Amino acid sequence: MLLPTSTVGKKIMMAITGQVLAIFIFFHIAGNSTIFFHALNGYVVALYKLPLFVWGGRLVLFLAFVFHIWYGTVLKLENHAAKPEPYAKTRYLQATFAGRNQIWTGVIVAVFLIYHLLQFTFQVTNPAVAADTHPDALGRPDIFMMVAQSFRQIGISGVYVVSLAALGLHLLHGIQSSFQTWGMNNERTLPVIEKTGNVVSVLLFFWYCAIPVAIVLGLLKG
Ligand code: HEM
Repeated sequence: MLLPTSTVGKKIMMAITGQVLAIFIFFHIAGNSTIFFHALNGYVVALYKLPLFVWGGRLVLFLAFVFHIWYGTVLKLENHAAKPEPYAKTRYLQATFAGRNQIWTGVIVAVFLIYHLLQFTFQVTNPAVAADTHPDALGRPDIFMMVAQSFRQIGISGVYVVSLAALGLHLLHGIQSSFQTWGMNNERTLPVIEKTGNVVSVLLFFWYCAIPVAIVLGLLKG
């Protein structure tokens, strides 16, 4: 197997898999935003008409998740075991709140994801609103109704907002850290990477939150 054993190799794996996941996170909210135009059911049906894209994407995502979690855990354990002699790149990383808690925000996102998949992909958490067994007027799985009915419950929306905050913090550190792994850590590029990473993370947080918040406030009705 060509799996990396050096610290740099493992960090490169973290950067690649993290960036793949971040790209998914962007496209996922872009697609989900069709909900604001009452077009979510049509969007999901259109997506499933591309099985190669869907299943190829799922395979890539699955591998990215597995390797990201694996190498993240290994690096954290190695870091703990190491003598207090940090390798060159960590000098550039500020010991921010997000950076210090990266492993914990990652754990929250992973637990959230299991719940999220059970809820919206496998649709087992609340069969009364399961889209696959409740078609809309056009006979399509009523994903819009499932999402809207779920988020109308303030507790569920609350869980999402807290999890999205954890995801935002994870990205806040992760985006800039991944670009530093690619060597973009000199005096000129570092501030740009940091600012861009911060803006993207905060934007994604508010963009994602807009769906549950709009539903709780009654601005989006299913
Ligand atoms: C407002 C927040 C969110 C909404 C409304 C939402 C909506 C959905 C829906 C409706 C599905 C099922 C689509 C289908 O039937 O194929 C889904 C699947 C999924 N979501 Fe989300 N999602 C949200 C947040 C997130 C976040 C933050 C992540 C990642 C951390 C995420 C990761 C996934 C994944 C990996 C799938 C499975 C995709 C697949 O089946 O191929 N979602 N989401």
